[in-house]
Amino acid sequence: MDQLKRQAAARALERVRDGMKLGLGTGSTAKHFVELLGEKVAGGMKVVGVPTSEATRAQAEACKIPLTTLDAIDRLDLTVDGADEIDPALNLIKGGGGALLREKIVAAASDRMIVIADDSKWVDVLGRFPLPVEVIPFGLAATQRAMAAAFAQSGVSGQMVLRKGRDGHVFVTDGGHWIVDAHLGRIAEAPRLAGLLNLIPGVVEHGLFIGLATIAILASGQGIRVVERR
Ligand code: 5RP
Repeated sequence: MDQLKRQAAARALERVRDGMKLGLGTGSTAKHFVELLGEKVAGGMKVVGVPTSEATRAQAEACKIPLTTLDAIDRLDLTVDGADEIDPALNLIKGGGGALLREKIVAAASDRMIVIADDSKWVDVLGRFPLPVEVIPFGLAATQRAMAAAFAQSGVSGQMVLRKGRDGHVFVTDGGHWIVDAHLGRIAEAPRLAGLLNLIPGVVEHGLFIGLATIAILASGQGIRVVERR
């Protein structure tokens, strides 16, 4: 599986050009991309990156990839990131690694977003992977009630679980927030649910990435499949 992730990352790297401003994703697949990009930079390629998490920042610094911020530059040319699920419209579920907020800010500031993944992430309908929703700790129960209402309005329901870290404590994001994972099973109307979640005050951001990805690079034992958004 890790080899497939690396193959997808390598294929995405072929689309990187000298001088590009890049969004650097988070997760085990994006990690391959950052490592391979670091090799290119060591070989003389000139790029600048904006990391989507503190973990990616640390890796990029170790790889000596020059970094900048979205305060210092206007737009990014390209973001390369992984995903937890990808549907045929190239809508995504992201946030399994807890970095969805910065990932979405960076993707939205990019002219293009390439999603890299092994083919197991490809689904007909989003939702088997629990939907991560980043929330403010204050008023959590009220936020969860509002989330349940949003789910009902878009025809889904399911258990909500406050994410815990490996140490058993509540998982805290880079932004200091918590994550509620919503086990919805099948989200038939993902854009509608995304819009409803956006209206809830205690929701900082959610893991539905609608209309952000432009290309998916999917690696399987049969080879690499490239899907472009129409
Ligand atoms: C992190 C993410 C990751 O991109 C997503 O979880 C996929 O990770 P991996 O490449 O390890 O399967 O959204 O917030």
